[in-house]
Parts: sequence; structure tokens; C-alpha cells
Amino acid sequence: MKRIFSGVQPTGNLHLGNYLGAIKNFVALQDDYDCIYCVVDMHAITVWQDPKELKAHTREVTAAYLAAGVDPKRCIIFNQSQVAEHAELAWIFNCVARLGWLNRMTQFKEKAGKHRENASVGLYAYPNLMAADILAYKATHVPVGEDQKQHLELTRDVAQKFNNDFGVELFPVPEPLIFGAATRVMSLRDGARKMSKSEPSNMSRINMTDTADDIAKKIRKATSDPELLPGAEVLDAAGALPEEARKARPEAHNLLGIYAALSDKPLRDVLEEFAGSQFSHFKAVLTDLAVAALGPMGHEMERLTADPASVDAVLRDGAERARAIAQPILAEVHDAVGFLRA
Ligand code: TYM
Repeated sequence: MKRIFSGVQPTGNLHLGNYLGAIKNFVALQDDYDCIYCVVDMHAITVWQDPKELKAHTREVTAAYLAAGVDPKRCIIFNQSQVAEHAELAWIFNCVARLGWLNRMTQFKEKAGKHRENASVGLYAYPNLMAADILAYKATHVPVGEDQKQHLELTRDVAQKFNNDFGVELFPVPEPLIFGAATRVMSLRDGARKMSKSEPSNMSRINMTDTADDIAKKIRKATSDPELLPGAEVLDAAGALPEEARKARPEAHNLLGIYAALSDKPLRDVLEEFAGSQFSHFKAVLTDLAVAALGPMGHEMERLTADPASVDAVLRDGAERARAIAQPILAEVHDAVGFLRA
């Protein structure tokens, strides 16, 4: 059986990168897979979260899933802390994963920064909780943006080591699903940096709840370069964008990738359409497209967050269905590890 699991942290400022790299793909996958989409509040508290805001942000991510088109009848939508099996399995994985593996995680190094000694233990063990999220459901496929690739590698290592150590075939080795034209959306202010929730400048990202005016202003002011837009000749023989071409003109390729992803057109068609255009013309067309795609979603998110009871009902129902899958898997894990159920 093919089962999808993925999650988004409720840390505020949900942005176009979260939408194009993850949530838009969640919607596309629900027709063909059994899908579980989580709001990972336990991951969020690995760095400080104001408790009131955390609740609001949990509802906001849920609203984003629903507004984007994730169907709560076909999929399971819930917040992580309501299903205790995640924490329980994460502890067991703390005893399976090696310190050396976690020491290599680039996201910990980036997030902990210079004050490593001051980072929470949770931030360090974050990837083990992520492995637990996925494997508590024996998920086989995990749709994410490119920045989660290394964490997925660790999940695969944990699954293999667990099976190996305990001589079982309990966990599948899950595959990342990284697809679409915008698997790594960059900051609108600096094409070398990832669009991120934690970037202080609000002008660096398009938020999922931005108004049409905000979107227009941010795209108009997005950093560009002095050349005309490139054409399809920059693509390699397989039709992919080579890393050197992206690095040579990061801002242009970021905006072109966003256009391709939002319009569901192949990058080649977009490059052919805008080859030789001025940035000003392209930015105007991109603005119309972004407003048309994000505007209705933003309004729906607003409507849903004004009705927290309906959002909570989705999470309650999802948590119940999630528990029903995770509990028998945890029983298998206990048995494999040698925990006595007396
Ligand atoms: P988070 O909350 O940082 O991001 C949620 C999703 O959005 C993607 N993403 C991006 N994609 C393209 N361009 C960007 N600039 C961009 N920024 C973020 C992320 O890759 C992610 O898919 N560790 C995860 C949450 C998580 C999870 C899991 C994911 C916890 N458990 C289990 C999958 C499976 C995270 O921090 O995502």
C-alpha cells in the first residue's frame, strides 16, 4: 500500500514556498494515495512559541490545507500533539539514531547558529521526531520541499537501522516526493536565500494571506537583474535547469519557477513565452497570476480562521483516525523492542 505523510510547522507567516513546495502538492496527491497531513506543533516548540499564538497558528495551517483544497474526508488532517504515538516513537528513535547522524544535520546548524549550547535538546533531536511522524503510519512517500531532503535521508536511515537492529521488516524505507517547478522558492529580496517564515523582512516573502496590493507591491519590488529574461536555451538536454544557469541569474529563475508552478505549465513553455521580455512586463503578468491563485485561498483561510470550531472539528476527527492507524503500529514496535505488555 502507498501512504503519504507530510507536515507543516505552525510557526506563522505561511508563505508561497510552503504552498508551492508542499501544500499544492498535497492536494495533487490525494487522488492517488492514502494521505495524512499533519500540523507539527511539537516540532514548532523546538524554538520558543508564544502559547496563544501557537494555537492560532495551528488553526492557520489547518485552514491553509483546507483552503488549498485538501479534502478532510479523503485525507487525515490533524495536529501532532493530539496523537501521543509521535512522541512515544520519537523516544525509541532517540535510542536508534546515532549522535553522528544528528551532528551532520545542516538545518540544526543553521537554526542553532552561533549559540549552539543554548539551543533546546528538542531542536537537536528534531529529525528523530520527524522520522517518528512518518514511520508511526508506515508511510511510504513524503512530499516536501527541497530543504527537507536531508531530514528524509535520516528517516530512511532510522527505518533501516531499526529493522536491522531488531531483525524485523517493520518499517518501509520512505521515498521523498520533491516535485513541481518550485521545490526551492527563494527570497524576493535575495535570490541566494530561501524564502522563509523566520526572515525578518516581510518583503522577502509572499504570505498565503497577503492581499492583492501586498502581492503586487512585493513582486514589483522583488530584486531583479539588468538583463532581459532568458529563453529555453538555458535548459539542459533533459529539459531541466542546470545549477550553473540558476546561479548565474538566481532572481530571474526564481520568478520564472514561481510562474511555472503557479500556472502548472512546464518551465520550458514559460521560458519560451517570456524569452527576451523586460522584467517589468513579466512582473505585471506574474502579479495577476499570483493574485488569481492566492487571493481566493487567502479569503477562504480568513473565513475558516473566523470559525475556529469548524477547524477544531476537522483536527479532532483527524486525530482520532490517525490514532487508529498509529496504535497497532506502536504495538508492533513495542513487541520488536521487547517492551512487555503485561
Ligand atoms: P516547514 O514547516 O519548514 O515547511 C513546510 C513545507 O514547506 C516546504 N518549504 C519550501 N518549499 C519550497 N521553497 C521554500 N522556500 C520552502 N520553505 C519551506 C518544506 O520543505 C516543507 O515541505 N520539518 C518540516 C516539517 C515536518 C515534516 C514531518 C515534513 C515535520 N515532520 C514529516 C514531512 C514529514 C518543516 O520544518 O517544514
